[in-house]
Amino acid sequence: MNATITAIGGFVPTSILSNETISETVDTTVEWIEKRTGIKERRLATSKDQATSNLACAAIENLLENYDVDRKEIDCVLLATTTPDHLLTPTSSKVCEISGLTNAFGLDLNAACSGFLYALEMATTMIESGRYKKIIVVGADKMSSIVDYEDRNTCILFGDGAGAVLLEKTELGYGMMKSILRTDGSGTSALLVPAGGSKFPATMGTIVNRDHYIKQEGAFVFKKAVESMSSVSQDVLASNDLSVKDIDWVVPHQANLRIINAVSESLNIGIEKVKVNIERYGNTTSATIPLCLWDFAADFKQGQNILITTFGAGFSWGATCIKWGVMRKRLPAKSSKND
Ligand code: UT7
Repeated sequence: MNATITAIGGFVPTSILSNETISETVDTTVEWIEKRTGIKERRLATSKDQATSNLACAAIENLLENYDVDRKEIDCVLLATTTPDHLLTPTSSKVCEISGLTNAFGLDLNAACSGFLYALEMATTMIESGRYKKIIVVGADKMSSIVDYEDRNTCILFGDGAGAVLLEKTELGYGMMKSILRTDGSGTSALLVPAGGSKFPATMGTIVNRDHYIKQEGAFVFKKAVESMSSVSQDVLASNDLSVKDIDWVVPHQANLRIINAVSESLNIGIEKVKVNIERYGNTTSATIPLCLWDFAADFKQGQNILITTFGAGFSWGATCIKWGVMRKRLPAKSSKND
């Protein structure tokens, strides 16, 4: 028995932050951003009722509206996020309430850009244990709540969004294969929000220092991302007895188009097999991979092999393979993609 993805949903806010607008506020150019990152625009959750829980619920609602699944049958919601609504209380409890998942328990999981992949692995083992039948894994981040729009090193990169998948069991031989997930603390100071947690609780000083915003040593993180995503992808292929020739699609974390290109080159997988939507959404952290699965779901055919790989703060990184299976029945479309 395997766990397999049977439904997908996604959501991005309507408000667009373009490179043109950023170049009017910090010392950068439209050309620099596009050439160095591949990003043309990102979406921002600007309305007051768009906290991370609302983004997650919008993605779940999109999934439930489009696929024939009863929300009362959902056993569990694993929410990967690095931007919870509050430090205390879990954002997933709000998600269960708003989405009417009255028979589910919710759990927040923070592993930065690797959160969705980690949550997917946890859900896989929960399904394969036989104890849970239907789990929603959602990656949602409102990065605009921790981005310093005066810092040209980071404000060009991030956007807001959410993506959700439904995981169920199958006995047809499709679904989740072996994963390799890794974490070490070597990158703690290279990518973090310094204050607001237990180490440096909020003070007037932390606010004045802008320590509640993301700080990143971009070039160092870039190098580690390329090395880690390339080597963990090779390892996960080997552990699943697959070679690069067996891979139909790659769905990488979307942090920088140059990272994606370098990983594809190092794996010797043609870029035409690599799914990319960073130009429209930027880096949505926990949401990049499910948003990519949602965006390109129509391209994935039954029996195709998909390689997923990620890298993020911590450092945290990993990869998995999926043999794409049978999706649940589609319902007549109710909502457009980007509302
Ligand atoms: O998702 C989590 C993981 N995160 C990532 O994987 C992100 C990894 N890092 C990156 O994507 C890239 O490192 C950045 C896009 C953040 C920066 O690109 P880079 O090519 O690594 O630039 P750099 O940091 O090496 O800086 C090169 C130059 C510097 O100027 P000098 O010192 O050479 O004069 C920077 O000050 O580019 C300058 N620079 C900029 N110039 C114009 C940095 N940001 C900007 C900017 N516009 N926005």
